[in-house]
Amino acid sequence: KKSVRDIELTGKRAFVRVDFNVPLEDGKITDDKRIRATLPTINYLIEKGAKVILASHMGRPNGEVVESLRLTPAAERLSELLGKTVVKADDSVGDAVKAQVAELNNGDVLLLENVRFHAGEEKNDPELAKQFAELADVFVNDAFGAAHRAHASTEGIAHLLPAVSGLLMEKELEVLGKAISNPERPFTAIIGGSKVKDKIDVIDNLLNIADNVIIGGGLSYTFMKAQGHEVGQSLLDESKLDVALGFIEKAKKLGKNFYLPVDIVISDDFSANANTKIVEVGDIPADWEGIDIGPKTREIYADVVKNSKLVVWNGPMGVFEIEPFSHGTRAVAQACAETEAYTVIGGGDSAAAAEKFKLADKMDHISTGGGASLEFMEGKVLPGVVALNDK
Ligand code: 3PG
Repeated sequence: KKSVRDIELTGKRAFVRVDFNVPLEDGKITDDKRIRATLPTINYLIEKGAKVILASHMGRPNGEVVESLRLTPAAERLSELLGKTVVKADDSVGDAVKAQVAELNNGDVLLLENVRFHAGEEKNDPELAKQFAELADVFVNDAFGAAHRAHASTEGIAHLLPAVSGLLMEKELEVLGKAISNPERPFTAIIGGSKVKDKIDVIDNLLNIADNVIIGGGLSYTFMKAQGHEVGQSLLDESKLDVALGFIEKAKKLGKNFYLPVDIVISDDFSANANTKIVEVGDIPADWEGIDIGPKTREIYADVVKNSKLVVWNGPMGVFEIEPFSHGTRAVAQACAETEAYTVIGGGDSAAAAEKFKLADKMDHISTGGGASLEFMEGKVLPGVVALNDK
């Protein structure tokens, strides 16, 4: 794929799709990782003398203007990070925006308003894509986090302008692509999180390519139940018992190491003051629930991570937001931080956990994609990537 480094940019208007869908609390950005991750591309464009037109979505406003989902806080944060004024438009298309674009000098930066304020964005409406394209000479897609969406500003516009990847997009595709197509071995995949149904496709694909697949978190109880163990009040997806058993069999057949928790931290209430106990798998009393992996499991998992060459981690091992239930997730994060292996954190909750435990800077790559990195790891084609020029 062509990247932003392969094209002439001086004096060119670049429509740059970024993923500034950052968490907000009371109008304040609580994690600006996604904004910081786009700085290399934005600075590169500024240096080359492009006119930088940034576009992003924020939240899910469903085609309407939602005041709390404006990109104003993102513009302010980006201004601080760049040490340069970022002009913020009140819309993403229309005459006022065209006028603002016309005023840009080489190296100026304009951030458009939330593209999802227009219903055509998520519908990939060709008319809206055309209006975006009319603002610019080239399209740069740096929104890896939104690359699994075929929307007007991620996919539609790519067919209307010379379309290249940004530096963040390029890095994400290189790191994650290497993991799934040419991994260093032993390759260990750690899959956690609460719902089996969200992780079925990724577990299935990782069983094909990884040497070790480690399971933790809420989804592990469906596997235990499938093996005939009682799980008490733990999270359970009865409809996925066969799928879970199928994975255990598939692992056996392919000669892969498939790890499930051997002990569990259980609790009688879903709160920080709950009573907790450590039990062996199969020993969860009827009115208790599993909320974290136990100490033996932590040790086994940490050991596998230590002896790997590549580790991909997606999803927490327990309810890490609550301190007494956070030890399993912390142990995995710690093991990833300490191992010699190349460590890739697949965005979302695991990235937040690494951040919370102050171990984020010890990881080799933390993906800015949540759903996008998951779909990539599932082996799916991302529409926002496919649409970029091959030439
Ligand atoms: C994300 O946060 O995963 C991306 O920004 C995509 O957001 P979406 O799930 O609302 O499309």
